[in-house]
Amino acid sequence: MSLQYRTPSRLGRPLSVIGQGCWQIGADWGDVSDESANAVLDAAREAGVTFFDTADVYGDGRSERLVGQMRQRAASAEGPSAPLFVATKASRRADPFAPESFTEENLRAWVERSRQNLATDTLDLVQLHCPPPAIYRDDQVFDVLDTLAEEKKIAAWGVSVETCEEALISLEREHLASIQIILNPFRLKPLEQVVPRAREKDVAIIARVPLASGLLTGKFSADTTFAADDHRSFNRHGEAFDQGETFAGVEYELGLEAVARLEHALRWEMPLPEASLRWILAQDGVTAAIPGASNGEQARRNAAAGSVATDEQQQILDRFDEAVRETYDELLRESIHPRW
Ligand SMILES: NC(=O)c1ccc[n+]([C@@H]2O[C@H](COP(=O)([O-])OP(=O)(O)OC[C@H]3O[C@@H](n4cnc5c(N)ncnc54)[C@H](OP(=O)(O)O)[C@@H]3O)[C@@H](O)[C@H]2O)c1
Repeated sequence: MSLQYRTPSRLGRPLSVIGQGCWQIGADWGDVSDESANAVLDAAREAGVTFFDTADVYGDGRSERLVGQMRQRAASAEGPSAPLFVATKASRRADPFAPESFTEENLRAWVERSRQNLATDTLDLVQLHCPPPAIYRDDQVFDVLDTLAEEKKIAAWGVSVETCEEALISLEREHLASIQIILNPFRLKPLEQVVPRAREKDVAIIARVPLASGLLTGKFSADTTFAADDHRSFNRHGEAFDQGETFAGVEYELGLEAVARLEHALRWEMPLPEASLRWILAQDGVTAAIPGASNGEQARRNAAAGSVATDEQQQILDRFDEAVRETYDELLRESIHPRW
Protein backbone atom coordinates (compact mmCIF):
# COMPACT_ATOMS: atom_id res chain seq x y z
CA MET A 1 0.00 0.00 0.00
CA SER A 2 1.68 3.21 -1.03
CA LEU A 3 1.49 6.73 0.23
CA GLN A 4 -0.76 9.09 -1.74
CA TYR A 5 0.26 12.47 -3.13
CA ARG A 6 -1.89 15.55 -3.74
CA THR A 7 -1.08 18.61 -5.84
CA PRO A 8 -2.81 21.73 -4.50
CA SER A 9 -3.15 24.12 -7.43
CA ARG A 10 -1.72 27.15 -5.63
CA LEU A 11 1.40 25.20 -4.68
CA GLY A 12 1.64 23.57 -8.06
CA ARG A 13 3.71 20.64 -6.84
CA PRO A 14 2.82 17.25 -5.37
CA LEU A 15 3.00 16.72 -1.62
CA SER A 16 2.75 13.42 0.20
CA VAL A 17 -0.52 13.40 2.16
CA ILE A 18 1.46 12.54 5.27
CA GLY A 19 4.10 15.20 5.79
CA GLN A 20 6.79 14.98 8.42
CA GLY A 21 6.40 17.54 11.19
CA CYS A 22 9.85 18.78 12.20
CA TRP A 23 9.26 20.76 15.38
CA GLN A 24 10.39 17.89 17.50
CA ILE A 25 13.74 17.54 15.75
CA GLY A 26 14.49 21.14 16.72
CA ALA A 27 13.49 21.66 20.35
CA ASP A 28 10.74 21.73 22.99
CA TRP A 29 10.20 17.96 23.12
CA GLY A 30 13.05 17.07 25.47
CA ASP A 31 16.58 16.35 24.30
CA VAL A 32 16.73 14.99 20.71
CA SER A 33 20.17 14.07 19.32
CA ASP A 34 21.17 14.76 15.70
CA GLU A 35 21.31 11.02 15.22
CA SER A 36 17.69 10.43 16.24
CA ALA A 37 16.53 13.52 14.33
CA ASN A 38 18.21 12.20 11.18
CA ALA A 39 16.72 8.75 11.79
CA VAL A 40 13.22 10.29 11.78
CA LEU A 41 13.88 12.33 8.62
CA ASP A 42 15.46 9.44 6.71
CA ALA A 43 12.78 6.96 7.78
CA ALA A 44 10.06 9.34 6.61
CA ARG A 45 11.76 9.98 3.27
CA GLU A 46 12.44 6.29 2.68
CA ALA A 47 8.75 5.60 3.38
CA GLY A 48 7.84 7.98 0.53
CA VAL A 49 7.24 11.19 2.50
CA THR A 50 8.14 14.16 0.30
CA PHE A 51 6.64 16.92 2.45
CA PHE A 52 8.51 18.31 5.47
CA ASP A 53 7.25 21.11 7.73
CA THR A 54 9.77 23.09 9.74
CA ALA A 55 10.25 26.66 11.09
CA ASP A 56 13.11 29.08 11.59
CA VAL A 57 12.60 29.03 15.36
CA TYR A 58 12.58 25.24 15.87
CA GLY A 59 15.84 24.89 17.80
CA ASP A 60 16.75 28.38 16.53
CA GLY A 61 17.39 27.06 13.01
CA ARG A 62 18.56 23.55 13.94
CA SER A 63 15.46 21.88 12.50
CA GLU A 64 15.82 23.78 9.22
CA ARG A 65 19.52 22.88 8.98
CA LEU A 66 18.83 19.18 9.60
CA VAL A 67 16.08 19.20 6.96
CA GLY A 68 18.42 20.98 4.52
CA GLN A 69 21.11 18.36 5.13
CA MET A 70 18.57 15.58 4.64
CA ARG A 71 17.57 17.11 1.30
CA GLN A 72 21.22 17.10 0.25
CA ARG A 73 21.58 13.45 1.34
CA ALA A 74 18.47 12.64 -0.73
CA ALA A 75 19.86 14.47 -3.78
CA SER A 76 23.16 12.59 -3.65
CA ALA A 77 21.58 9.17 -2.97
CA GLU A 78 21.68 6.67 -5.80
CA GLY A 79 18.56 5.97 -7.82
CA PRO A 80 15.56 8.13 -8.62
CA SER A 81 14.02 10.07 -5.77
CA ALA A 82 10.89 12.23 -5.75
CA PRO A 83 11.48 15.97 -5.34
CA LEU A 84 11.02 17.06 -1.75
CA PHE A 85 8.80 19.94 -0.68
CA VAL A 86 9.92 21.84 2.41
CA ALA A 87 7.58 24.28 4.12
CA THR A 88 9.11 26.60 6.68
CA LYS A 89 7.75 29.37 8.89
CA ALA A 90 8.84 32.87 9.69
CA SER A 91 7.96 35.65 12.10
CA ARG A 92 8.61 34.39 15.60
CA ARG A 93 12.28 35.32 15.72
CA ALA A 94 11.49 38.85 16.81
CA ASP A 95 9.09 39.42 19.70
CA PRO A 96 6.20 37.36 18.28
CA PHE A 97 3.55 39.44 19.98
CA ALA A 98 4.84 42.80 18.77
CA PRO A 99 3.15 43.75 15.48
CA GLU A 100 5.88 46.36 14.90
CA SER A 101 8.39 43.49 14.40
CA PHE A 102 6.81 42.75 11.02
CA THR A 103 8.87 45.22 9.00
CA GLU A 104 10.07 44.57 5.47
CA GLU A 105 13.63 44.50 6.81
CA ASN A 106 12.82 41.77 9.36
CA LEU A 107 10.75 39.70 6.93
CA ARG A 108 13.58 39.81 4.39
CA ALA A 109 16.16 38.89 7.06
CA TRP A 110 14.09 35.93 8.31
CA VAL A 111 13.60 34.58 4.78
CA GLU A 112 17.30 35.07 4.01
CA ARG A 113 18.30 33.07 7.08
CA SER A 114 15.91 30.23 6.17
CA ARG A 115 17.34 30.13 2.62
CA GLN A 116 20.78 29.68 4.15
CA ASN A 117 19.68 27.09 6.73
CA LEU A 118 17.84 25.09 4.09
CA ALA A 119 20.64 25.65 1.54
CA THR A 120 18.22 26.63 -1.20
CA ASP A 121 17.70 29.65 -3.49
CA THR A 122 13.91 29.51 -3.44
CA LEU A 123 11.98 28.42 -0.37
CA ASP A 124 9.10 26.13 -1.41
CA LEU A 125 6.62 27.65 1.07
CA VAL A 126 6.95 30.26 3.81
CA GLN A 127 4.15 30.40 6.37
CA LEU A 128 3.59 33.27 8.78
CA HIS A 129 4.07 31.53 12.10
CA CYS A 130 1.03 32.32 14.27
CA PRO A 131 1.59 36.08 14.15
CA PRO A 132 -0.30 38.54 16.37
CA PRO A 133 -3.94 38.82 15.20
CA ALA A 134 -3.46 42.41 13.90
CA ILE A 135 -0.96 41.16 11.31
CA TYR A 136 -3.64 39.28 9.37
CA ARG A 137 -5.11 42.66 8.37
CA ASP A 138 -1.78 44.36 7.63
CA ASP A 139 -1.55 44.74 3.82
CA GLN A 140 2.09 45.79 3.99
CA VAL A 141 3.20 42.40 5.40
CA PHE A 142 1.47 40.54 2.57
CA ASP A 143 2.85 42.95 -0.03
CA VAL A 144 6.36 42.06 1.16
CA LEU A 145 5.55 38.35 0.82
CA ASP A 146 4.27 38.96 -2.72
CA THR A 147 7.47 40.85 -3.54
CA LEU A 148 9.63 38.03 -2.16
CA ALA A 149 7.67 35.65 -4.40
CA GLU A 150 8.25 37.89 -7.44
CA GLU A 151 11.96 37.90 -6.58
CA LYS A 152 11.80 34.07 -6.44
CA LYS A 153 13.16 33.98 -2.91
CA ILE A 154 10.00 32.10 -2.02
CA ALA A 155 7.82 30.04 -4.35
CA ALA A 156 4.63 30.54 -2.33
CA TRP A 157 3.43 31.84 1.02
CA GLY A 158 0.80 30.74 3.50
CA VAL A 159 -0.25 31.19 7.10
CA SER A 160 -0.09 28.97 10.16
CA VAL A 161 -2.98 30.10 12.35
CA GLU A 162 -4.27 29.53 15.86
CA THR A 163 -7.96 30.23 15.23
CA CYS A 164 -10.60 29.63 12.57
CA GLU A 165 -11.25 33.36 12.49
CA GLU A 166 -7.63 34.04 11.51
CA ALA A 167 -7.92 31.44 8.76
CA LEU A 168 -11.09 33.05 7.38
CA ILE A 169 -9.49 36.52 7.33
CA SER A 170 -6.43 35.08 5.54
CA LEU A 171 -8.63 33.43 2.92
CA GLU A 172 -9.45 36.92 1.60
CA ARG A 173 -5.81 37.34 0.45
CA GLU A 174 -5.48 36.74 -3.27
CA HIS A 175 -2.11 34.97 -3.23
CA LEU A 176 -2.55 32.86 -0.10
CA ALA A 177 -1.40 29.32 -1.03
CA SER A 178 -1.96 27.37 2.19
CA ILE A 179 -3.39 27.40 5.69
CA GLN A 180 -1.84 25.35 8.44
CA ILE A 181 -4.30 24.77 11.28
CA ILE A 182 -4.85 22.35 14.16
CA LEU A 183 -7.30 19.78 12.86
CA ASN A 184 -7.71 16.34 14.42
CA PRO A 185 -10.44 14.24 16.09
CA PHE A 186 -10.32 16.70 19.03
CA ARG A 187 -10.56 19.81 16.79
CA LEU A 188 -13.55 19.79 14.48
CA LYS A 189 -14.31 23.48 14.13
CA PRO A 190 -12.11 24.04 11.02
CA LEU A 191 -14.34 21.54 9.20
CA GLU A 192 -17.36 23.83 9.54
CA GLN A 193 -16.17 26.91 7.65
CA VAL A 194 -12.43 26.99 7.03
CA VAL A 195 -11.94 23.78 5.08
CA PRO A 196 -14.99 24.24 2.77
CA ARG A 197 -14.02 27.86 2.01
CA ALA A 198 -10.37 26.86 1.38
CA ARG A 199 -11.56 24.09 -0.92
CA GLU A 200 -13.62 26.59 -2.95
CA LYS A 201 -10.53 28.78 -3.34
CA ASP A 202 -8.07 25.93 -3.96
CA VAL A 203 -6.05 26.89 -0.89
CA ALA A 204 -4.16 23.94 0.62
CA ILE A 205 -5.08 22.83 4.15
CA ILE A 206 -2.23 21.45 6.23
CA ALA A 207 -3.51 19.72 9.38
CA ARG A 208 -1.03 20.16 12.20
CA VAL A 209 -0.84 18.55 15.65
CA PRO A 210 -2.82 15.68 14.08
CA LEU A 211 -2.19 13.34 17.02
CA ALA A 212 -2.89 15.95 19.71
CA SER A 213 0.79 15.86 20.79
CA GLY A 214 0.59 12.06 21.10
CA LEU A 215 -2.67 11.90 23.13
CA LEU A 216 -4.42 10.50 20.06
CA THR A 217 -2.09 7.50 20.02
CA GLY A 218 -3.74 6.07 23.14
CA LYS A 219 -0.36 5.41 24.77
CA PHE A 220 -0.70 7.86 27.67
CA SER A 221 -2.35 7.36 31.04
CA ALA A 222 -2.99 9.44 34.15
CA ASP A 223 0.44 8.30 35.40
CA THR A 224 2.43 9.33 32.31
CA THR A 225 5.10 11.94 33.00
CA PHE A 226 7.02 14.11 30.54
CA ALA A 227 10.50 15.62 30.83
CA ALA A 228 10.68 19.13 32.25
CA ASP A 229 11.93 20.47 28.88
CA ASP A 230 9.05 18.80 26.97
CA HIS A 231 6.19 21.26 26.23
CA ARG A 232 3.76 18.59 27.39
CA SER A 233 5.11 19.49 30.87
CA PHE A 234 5.96 23.15 30.61
CA ASN A 235 3.13 24.37 28.38
CA ARG A 236 0.26 22.23 29.59
CA HIS A 237 -1.74 25.30 30.55
CA GLY A 238 -0.35 27.68 27.92
CA GLU A 239 2.47 28.98 30.14
CA ALA A 240 4.97 29.44 27.25
CA PHE A 241 2.87 29.67 24.08
CA ASP A 242 -0.71 29.10 22.94
CA GLN A 243 -2.24 26.28 24.97
CA GLY A 244 -3.76 24.87 21.79
CA GLU A 245 -0.33 23.65 20.64
CA THR A 246 -0.13 21.22 23.57
CA PHE A 247 -2.60 18.30 23.44
CA ALA A 248 -4.57 20.47 20.95
CA GLY A 249 -5.75 22.50 23.96
CA VAL A 250 -7.65 19.58 25.49
CA GLU A 251 -7.34 19.26 29.25
CA TYR A 252 -5.24 16.11 29.82
CA GLU A 253 -7.64 14.02 31.93
CA LEU A 254 -10.56 14.90 29.67
CA GLY A 255 -8.40 13.90 26.68
CA LEU A 256 -7.81 10.47 28.25
CA GLU A 257 -11.57 10.01 28.63
CA ALA A 258 -12.14 11.01 25.00
CA VAL A 259 -9.39 8.63 23.86
CA ALA A 260 -11.01 5.74 25.76
CA ARG A 261 -14.28 6.38 23.88
CA LEU A 262 -12.55 6.49 20.50
CA GLU A 263 -10.61 3.30 21.22
CA HIS A 264 -13.83 1.59 22.26
CA ALA A 265 -15.36 2.49 18.88
CA LEU A 266 -12.33 1.05 17.07
CA ARG A 267 -12.65 -2.28 18.93
CA TRP A 268 -8.90 -2.83 18.46
CA GLU A 269 -9.44 -3.28 14.70
CA MET A 270 -7.26 -0.29 13.80
CA PRO A 271 -4.65 1.49 15.94
CA LEU A 272 -5.86 4.90 17.15
CA PRO A 273 -2.99 6.93 15.57
CA GLU A 274 -3.68 5.32 12.20
CA ALA A 275 -7.43 5.94 12.51
CA SER A 276 -6.82 9.56 13.52
CA LEU A 277 -4.55 10.25 10.55
CA ARG A 278 -6.80 8.42 8.07
CA TRP A 279 -9.83 10.28 9.44
CA ILE A 280 -8.11 13.66 8.91
CA LEU A 281 -7.06 12.78 5.36
CA ALA A 282 -10.61 11.69 4.52
CA GLN A 283 -12.00 15.18 5.18
CA ASP A 284 -12.76 16.75 1.82
CA GLY A 285 -10.45 19.72 1.31
CA VAL A 286 -7.61 18.58 3.57
CA THR A 287 -4.33 18.39 1.65
CA ALA A 288 -2.02 16.76 4.17
CA ALA A 289 -1.48 15.95 7.84
CA ILE A 290 1.94 16.55 9.39
CA PRO A 291 2.51 14.33 12.45
CA GLY A 292 5.71 14.74 14.42
CA ALA A 293 7.66 11.62 15.38
CA SER A 294 10.19 10.81 18.05
CA ASN A 295 11.74 7.85 16.20
CA GLY A 296 11.94 6.24 12.77
CA GLU A 297 9.36 3.60 13.59
CA GLN A 298 6.71 6.25 14.36
CA ALA A 299 7.57 8.07 11.13
CA ARG A 300 7.17 4.83 9.13
CA ARG A 301 3.86 3.96 10.79
CA ASN A 302 2.51 7.43 10.21
CA ALA A 303 3.52 7.32 6.54
CA ALA A 304 1.69 4.00 6.18
CA ALA A 305 -1.56 5.75 7.20
CA GLY A 306 -1.37 7.78 3.99
CA SER A 307 -2.34 4.93 1.68
CA VAL A 308 -5.81 4.58 0.13
CA ALA A 309 -8.14 2.93 2.67
CA THR A 310 -9.41 -0.54 1.78
CA ASP A 311 -13.16 -1.21 1.96
CA GLU A 312 -12.66 -2.95 5.27
CA GLN A 313 -10.68 -0.02 6.66
CA GLN A 314 -13.34 2.36 5.38
CA GLN A 315 -16.01 0.57 7.40
CA ILE A 316 -13.94 0.98 10.54
CA LEU A 317 -13.39 4.65 9.69
CA ASP A 318 -17.13 5.25 9.23
CA ARG A 319 -17.71 3.92 12.74
CA PHE A 320 -14.80 6.01 13.99
CA ASP A 321 -16.22 9.16 12.38
CA GLU A 322 -19.47 8.71 14.31
CA ALA A 323 -17.57 8.27 17.57
CA VAL A 324 -15.38 11.29 16.86
CA ARG A 325 -18.39 13.58 16.35
CA GLU A 326 -20.28 12.23 19.37
CA THR A 327 -17.24 12.46 21.62
CA TYR A 328 -16.52 15.99 20.45
CA ASP A 329 -20.08 17.13 21.10
CA GLU A 330 -20.36 15.47 24.48
CA LEU A 331 -16.90 16.08 25.96
CA LEU A 332 -14.90 18.67 24.05
CA ARG A 333 -17.04 21.16 22.16
CA GLU A 334 -17.75 23.33 25.17
CA SER A 335 -14.09 24.02 25.99
CA ILE A 336 -12.59 23.94 22.47
CA HIS A 337 -15.13 25.41 20.08
CA PRO A 338 -15.41 28.96 21.48
CA ARG A 339 -11.66 29.36 21.89
CA TRP A 340 -10.08 28.26 18.60
N1 LIG B 1 2.41 27.05 15.36
C1 LIG B 1 2.69 26.17 14.43
O1 LIG B 1 2.77 26.48 13.28
C2 LIG B 1 2.90 24.74 14.84
C3 LIG B 1 2.64 24.35 16.16
C4 LIG B 1 2.74 23.00 16.47
C5 LIG B 1 3.12 22.08 15.51
N2 LIG B 1 3.40 22.49 14.24
C6 LIG B 1 3.81 21.52 13.19
O2 LIG B 1 2.99 20.37 13.28
C7 LIG B 1 3.82 19.20 13.47
C8 LIG B 1 3.06 18.13 14.22
O3 LIG B 1 2.59 18.59 15.45
P1 LIG B 1 3.18 18.05 16.83
O4 LIG B 1 4.46 17.32 16.57
O5 LIG B 1 3.17 19.20 17.77
O6 LIG B 1 2.06 17.05 17.35
P2 LIG B 1 1.54 15.63 16.87
O7 LIG B 1 1.97 15.34 15.51
O8 LIG B 1 0.10 15.62 17.19
O9 LIG B 1 2.25 14.65 17.93
C9 LIG B 1 3.55 14.23 17.73
C10 LIG B 1 3.97 13.26 18.85
O10 LIG B 1 3.10 12.14 18.93
C11 LIG B 1 3.87 10.97 19.20
N3 LIG B 1 3.72 10.07 18.02
C12 LIG B 1 3.75 10.42 16.71
N4 LIG B 1 3.53 9.37 15.92
C13 LIG B 1 3.34 8.31 16.74
C14 LIG B 1 3.05 6.94 16.52
N5 LIG B 1 2.90 6.44 15.28
N6 LIG B 1 2.94 6.13 17.60
C15 LIG B 1 3.07 6.62 18.85
N7 LIG B 1 3.33 7.91 19.13
C16 LIG B 1 3.46 8.76 18.07
C17 LIG B 1 5.30 11.42 19.40
O11 LIG B 1 5.50 11.77 20.76
P3 LIG B 1 6.32 10.89 21.85
O12 LIG B 1 6.82 9.66 21.21
O13 LIG B 1 7.38 11.78 22.33
O14 LIG B 1 5.29 10.67 22.91
C18 LIG B 1 5.33 12.68 18.56
O15 LIG B 1 6.33 13.57 18.89
C19 LIG B 1 5.06 19.78 14.15
O16 LIG B 1 6.17 18.92 14.08
C20 LIG B 1 5.25 21.06 13.38
O17 LIG B 1 5.86 20.80 12.14
C21 LIG B 1 3.28 23.80 13.89
